[in-house]
Amino acid sequence: MYNSKITGLGYYVPENVITNDDLSKIMDTNDAWIQERTGIKERRHVVRGDGDTTTTMGVKAAKIAIERAKIDKDDIDFIVFATLSPDYYFPGPGVLVQRDLGIKTVGALDVRNQCSGFIYALSVADQFIKSGMYKNVLVIGSELHSHGLDMTTRGRGVSVIFGDGAGAAVLSRSEDKGKGMLSSHLHSEGQHAEELSLIAPGMGKRWVTDIIEDNDPNDESYYPHMNGQFVFKNAVVRFSEVIMEGLKKNSLKPEDIDLLVPHQANLRISQFIQNKFGLGNDQVFNNIMKYGNTTAASIPIALTEAWESGKVKDGDLVVLAAFGSGFTWGSVIIRW
Ligand code: UT7
Repeated sequence: MYNSKITGLGYYVPENVITNDDLSKIMDTNDAWIQERTGIKERRHVVRGDGDTTTTMGVKAAKIAIERAKIDKDDIDFIVFATLSPDYYFPGPGVLVQRDLGIKTVGALDVRNQCSGFIYALSVADQFIKSGMYKNVLVIGSELHSHGLDMTTRGRGVSVIFGDGAGAAVLSRSEDKGKGMLSSHLHSEGQHAEELSLIAPGMGKRWVTDIIEDNDPNDESYYPHMNGQFVFKNAVVRFSEVIMEGLKKNSLKPEDIDLLVPHQANLRISQFIQNKFGLGNDQVFNNIMKYGNTTAASIPIALTEAWESGKVKDGDLVVLAAFGSGFTWGSVIIRW
């Protein structure tokens, strides 16, 4: 059996910064509320016409990750793309990345696990490498939220939180025993599917034909819905459980963690986990202040920034964890 390790990381965010004050000009919200409840100061929004899409942002992040992995794009054996905001209803963005990067006809898989999408995607890539099937897998998480949000007071509980951006990693075969991805842990609880969801268009409750026929400007079903407090309560429990599960699997303890990179859902959630595990400020990486919640992109953006700033060192125990819509949640334990 082979090991897999992250050999390259990259991220891309659009240049357009939207501050909390900018939002307060278009809806009934304010900087104090947003900072106190979420920790967010600003986020990035794609400007329509600039050419950025979920796929193009993913491609930009991927190019950096491939270069840093010191491989050629034609060394990529497989693509895994995690997003909840694909360019098209179908096909998914994986094949668009294959086309835009000009990679040979390798397989491309789309993962639809929202906030835990990148954890699921990494886990899939890890299995392909450990089984010996592939040597280099390109894993991308990218989201373009801003143009799918209800940017009125009605949608403020959701729209102030989410931002646009992309992150990518190259996961490669490694002969280094005891290093790389040690384990991944994935869970779901579909009982709460609608608590954080976007119902339409879909082939369930709101068909495309319903939306066209009704042509109702007050139809909220095509905006994301979140039962914020319920999601929050579940998040803190599941984050803790799945981090402990990963540590136990590897006979490790919370004090062995060098760096925890949690999905950037809410600064209060990260701080709760930090306190629960008795971790110091330098042991938990947060950048939600700058980018908001970028869903599947949040972990690879944060991991890349942590790595770029020298916070991820050879031999470190790095823990990634996420919770979100589905509900789905998961963790990845890495010996760097
Ligand atoms: O990444 C996927 C997983 N997502 C999460 O883990 C998110 C989990 N949930 C949360 O982060 C928090 O629940 C939120 C940040 C979404 C909301 O914070 P909260 O402290 O739970 O606030 P709330 O929803 O209970 O709302 C409190 C009040 C309400 O007013 P009333 O009913 O008390 O008068 C809301 O209408 O705050 C109001 N409110 C706002 N006020 C100003 C809601 N959104 C806003 C806003 N600006 N943007």
